[in-house]
Order: sequence, then structure tokens, then C-alpha cells
Amino acid sequence: MESEECVIARGAEAVIRTGTWHARPAAIKERVVKSYRRAELDSRLRTSRTKSEAQLMFQARKAGVRTPLIFDVDLHSCRIVMEFIEGISAKMALQDLPNRMQLAFEIGRRVGRLHRADIIHGDLTTSNIIFSGQEPCFIDFGLGERSGELERKGVDMHLLKEALVSAHSEHGGLYDAVASGYTEEYPEGEMVLSLVCDIEKRGRYN
Ligand SMILES: Nc1ncnc2c1ncn2[C@@H]1O[C@H](COP(=O)(O)OP(=O)(O)O)[C@@H](O)[C@H]1O
Ligand SMILES: [Mg+2]
Repeated sequence: MESEECVIARGAEAVIRTGTWHARPAAIKERVVKSYRRAELDSRLRTSRTKSEAQLMFQARKAGVRTPLIFDVDLHSCRIVMEFIEGISAKMALQDLPNRMQLAFEIGRRVGRLHRADIIHGDLTTSNIIFSGQEPCFIDFGLGERSGELERKGVDMHLLKEALVSAHSEHGGLYDAVASGYTEEYPEGEMVLSLVCDIEKRGRYN
């Protein structure tokens, strides 16, 4: 049913392997034991993040944001078997592709849809967005949550802005493109954007 091939990424919490699931190309994300945490806490964290990641991926999809299809979730081994997304990371796409402003705009629209549905991604960096064609696919919801709080949305957006500015400083304007896609889908997002400015000011004076 399921077979594993090679490791494609080894993050702080999880190992991601390629594989197949009923002959379909799959990515298998497994949260591994962290021995620096007490065993009981470790197991609770791995289980709850696996569960919440799978739920948020599903909810994001319902909100109109592409996420990998979930094939299987196993809370014992803390594994999610999902569709393998063929493409390049937004980090690369926004650096190399001539249509990067349009791609940034598309990212902003998707984040607007997430926030309109009160879905906080939790780790909105350009490594967690994969472009397959023109459409961005969002992954890595393990630190996400449901919240209607504007402040949380502001923190989400601020992280994305930082990622854009630090890795793509030579292309100023990417954040503006994200912001305009964002408010197009989520007009109340204007308030979130002004919070992003507040968060930046706080960061500067602290
Ligand atoms: N469904 C997927 N399809 C293709 N690549 C994936 C998929 N899921 C994860 N990856 C790759 O593995 C990397 C790490 O996965 P991610 O879920 O972001 O874990 P981490 O929490 O360790 O950052 C991603 O940056 C991406 O390159
Ligand atoms: Mg990641």
C-alpha cells in the first residue's frame, strides 16, 4: 500500500520522505522522537501537532487554498502521508522567475483566504509555499491554529514580510504585491496590515 524511498528534508521536528501511496507519488512527514523533551510531553506534542497539521491542511483546502491532499494520518507513528507536490519553493520562484510580482500577488490572495477563514498558518515562510505552475500550494501547518484575532494574523503576515525582505531585498515590492492580493480577498485585512507596521515598530525599539 505504502512504500518509502528517500529522505528529502530533515527539519527540527520532522523527517520528510518521498514514497508512494497506492501507486501515487507521496510525501511522508513523520515527527520523530526528541529526546531532549520529557517522553510524555514529547509524545503529546508530536501527536497534537500531527493531528492539528492534518486538520488545518484540510480546512485550508476548504477555504480555497491549495494544500497537499491527505492520504493517511497515523497518530501512533505521528505520520502524515500526503500528495507529493511537484514544483519549486516560493523562495526560488520569487528569486528567479520573471513573473514574480504576479506570484507574490497569488500568495497574498491565498493568505487572505486563510485569514478570512480564521486559519493562522504559524510558519509563513517562503520555504513552506511550493509553486506547481502558477498556483501556490501551502505546506507545514504544524504550528498553525484557528483564531479570529487580528494580532495573530498580523504576526503571521509579519513573518512572511520578514522572509520576503531578508531573502529578496533586491526585489522590493514583493511585499506590496502580497499585501494587495491579501486585501483583495480579505478587505478587513487592512487592519491586519496596519498591525504588521506596529509589530515592526515594536521590534525596532525593543
Ligand atoms: N507534500 C509535499 N510535496 C513536496 N515536498 C514536500 C511536501 N511536504 C514537504 N515537502 C518538502 O519537505 C520540506 C520540509 O517539510 P515541512 O512540512 O515544511 O517540514 P518542517 O516542519 O521540517 O519544515 C519542505 O520545505 C518541502 O521541500
Ligand atoms: Mg517547513
